[in-house]
Amino acid sequence: MTVRFTAERRSPVEVTDTLLVPVETGESFDPSIQELDRILNGKLCESVRDLGLTGRVGQVAVLSTWGQLPAQRLVVVGVGSPETRTADDIRRAWGAAAQAAAEAGARTLYSPLPVVAGLELDAVCRASVEGAGLGTYRFLEYRTRMEPALSLEQVVFLAAPEEVERGIRRGEAAVEAVCLARDLVNRPGNDLPPERLAGLAWEIAERAGLECRVFDRGALEELGAGAILAVGQGSRHEPHLIHLVYRPAGQPLASVGLVGKGVTFDTGGISIKPAEGMERMKGDMAGAAAVIGVMQAVAKLRLPIAVHGVVAAAENMPDGAAFRPGDILRALNGKTIEVISTDAEGRLLLADALTYTARQGVDLMIDLATLTGACVVALGKQGTGLFGTDRALVDALVRAGERAGERLWPMPLWDEYRELLKSEHADIKNTGGRWGGAINAALFLREFTEGVTWAHLDIAGPAWAERSGPLGPAGGTGHGVRTLLYFLEEYTAGR
Ligand code: BES
Ligand code: MN
Ligand code: ZN
Repeated sequence: MTVRFTAERRSPVEVTDTLLVPVETGESFDPSIQELDRILNGKLCESVRDLGLTGRVGQVAVLSTWGQLPAQRLVVVGVGSPETRTADDIRRAWGAAAQAAAEAGARTLYSPLPVVAGLELDAVCRASVEGAGLGTYRFLEYRTRMEPALSLEQVVFLAAPEEVERGIRRGEAAVEAVCLARDLVNRPGNDLPPERLAGLAWEIAERAGLECRVFDRGALEELGAGAILAVGQGSRHEPHLIHLVYRPAGQPLASVGLVGKGVTFDTGGISIKPAEGMERMKGDMAGAAAVIGVMQAVAKLRLPIAVHGVVAAAENMPDGAAFRPGDILRALNGKTIEVISTDAEGRLLLADALTYTARQGVDLMIDLATLTGACVVALGKQGTGLFGTDRALVDALVRAGERAGERLWPMPLWDEYRELLKSEHADIKNTGGRWGGAINAALFLREFTEGVTWAHLDIAGPAWAERSGPLGPAGGTGHGVRTLLYFLEEYTAGR
């Protein structure tokens, strides 16, 4: 993360560099800003009217200060109406405003905090931090021509530091975690084979103070993780299972497992994918990236629960040694799986990873995976398909998503569809046909959860953005990180 966040109790009329000016629908201004318009002899209101700024959330314009203020420029941003405004409106507005400020050459952006009904100032601040931090994210690691990096160095909230300190800390931890996940997703397959993902996870664990255990191929053979091994056997790069653990200082209030699909590149294997758009399959480890990001944040925030982050990493390649359709595998829990499509590899990895996590004695576990194209057909690019064996857990995740500004939509685990996974010669097969593909995949996973309370997030759509937006550029989004953080915080508070 490049932008730093602080707070100072100052008046907007005395700050330098760049000032953020929130505009409400109806072209009215936050009371704190009215004095500003007086000093500018009404020019602020006039410009807003001339530019046709209506206060719609995220609408943004950069204005001069006509030499009448210490500040060099104003970033005027729509923040909707005070009655209907949500935390996510603030998040998106601050994303757009920070981007505009950075593009205009601002180094410091001074920002008042608007009122959101039903939200503490602290939570408003957190949403602003998330918006500004994520909106100015860029992935420049592979550019050789020095692009002018974004100029923005800090955002200073015009508020009493002690009132927003917690919001800043939590927001920063969330931004760092999401940006870490984005970096991992955007990193190409040639630079992120499974062993490299394991190496990076190890480094992150070291820095964050997490325990880390990595299983290479030999260790996976000893463990009996036949499904993970099969997916990885066609690649020059061995599959790995990565196990991160966060333990709080005192007795943990509970223990949670987070499981991520880490396919560092998905060609489809012998059931090879069409060439068109295959490059996006470098992002087939977005679930793993989200889990690693969340683990970093959990350590930073010192939540009073134990958290196990488990990633099954493999590269799905076609090769003389690759697994084939018709192969029968033995999973970690002893069940046999008939492979119908080698392109349904994510559920194979997760099968063993879920069993492994369940055996850590967790109270509940949640997996994240770019699992099925069918889920994208069902919910589009914005929606995560949410499955779960426990109503309270599903509801809590939906609520967390609402607060995080991520869309999760409950999907069914209908027992009748379990029929579709019946195999001629093994206990189960790895595909259930085209119809209800996201549901079949989730039903497959359920067979490997060992009866532990479980939820599954199919993030195939939202993990990757086709276009840039107020919360970041095209590419990896880090979707799921914020939802999990808000979920874990609420879960912790309820214990
Ligand atoms: N990684 C893909 C799913 C995917 C598709 C993610 C589009 C993101 C965007 C997954 O491994 C896959 O190939 N799933 C198959 C399953 C099928 C063979 C049952 C699919 O969705 O077509
Ligand atoms: Mn696949
Ligand atoms: Zn895949």
